[in-house]
Amino acid sequence: MTNILVTGGAGYIGSHACKVLKNAGYTPVTFDNFITGWRDAIKFGPYVEGDLLDRASIDAAFAEYQPVGVMHFAALSQVGESMTQPGTYWQNNVMGSLNLIEATVAAGCKNFVFSSTCATYGEQDNVVLDENCAQLPINAYGASKRAIEDILANFGESHGLNHVIFRYFNVAGADPDGEVGEFHQPETHLVPLMLDASVANVAH
Ligand SMILES: NC(=O)c1ccc[n+]([C@@H]2O[C@H](COP(=O)([O-])OP(=O)(O)OC[C@H]3O[C@@H](n4cnc5c(N)ncnc54)[C@H](O)[C@@H]3O)[C@@H](O)[C@H]2O)c1
Repeated sequence: MTNILVTGGAGYIGSHACKVLKNAGYTPVTFDNFITGWRDAIKFGPYVEGDLLDRASIDAAFAEYQPVGVMHFAALSQVGESMTQPGTYWQNNVMGSLNLIEATVAAGCKNFVFSSTCATYGEQDNVVLDENCAQLPINAYGASKRAIEDILANFGESHGLNHVIFRYFNVAGADPDGEVGEFHQPETHLVPLMLDASVANVAH
C-alpha cells in the first residue's frame, strides 16, 4: 500500500481528494481534528484524529503510516473570522503547517502538496491574475497562507522538499457519485451562497 497523508481529509476538498487518491491506487490517510470536518466524509481510507498544533500526533501518524507524500488541506479558512481572530489563524494555519512541514522533513518524506488560496493576491484592479502576480493579501487568512508558501520555499531549498502549491479561487461542485459533497457550516463560499439565493428567489 502506498500511503498519502491527507490533512483536512474530513473537509470539503480533502474528502474529494481522498476519493481520487483511492481510485488512483493510493491509500489516503486522513489527519483531521474535525474542527470544521465531518467524520462521515471519511470513506476512502483510515484516519488519525489529531491536531496540527500537536507535533507528537503528526510524528505518530508518520511513524504508523510511512506516507510517501502529504496533501495539506487542513486550515481555518473564513476570511471575516480571520480579521476578528487573527491570532487563531496565524496559530492554526502557520504554526500548524510549520509543525507538519518539519515532521514531513524529519520523516524523510519529500513530496508535499499545499492548498493555498487566491486570497494571497489581495485586491488588484485591472489585472488578470496569474501565478506571477504580486501576492498582496488584505486579510489574515490570505497572509497566513502566503507565510506558509514562504516556509515551503525555504524548506524546498534547504531540505529538498518537493512541493506544489494550489491557489484556488472559488471551489465548487461535488462528487458525481454522491459519496461526498460540500457542507460548510456556516457557508461563506460564493457559489453555494449564489445557488441558495437563487433557490430562495424561485421559492418566493
Ligand atoms: N473551499 C474553497 O473554495 C477554497 C478556496 C481556496 C482555498 N481553499 C483551501 O483549501 C483547503 C480546504 O478547504 P475546504 O473548503 O475543504 O475547508 P474545510 O473547512 O471543509 O476543511 C478543512 C479541514 O481541515 C481540518 N482542520 C483545520 N485545522 C486543523 C488542525 N489544526 N489540525 C487538523 N485538522 C484541521 C478541519 O477539521 C477540516 O476537516 C483549505 O486550506 C482552504 O484554505 C479552499
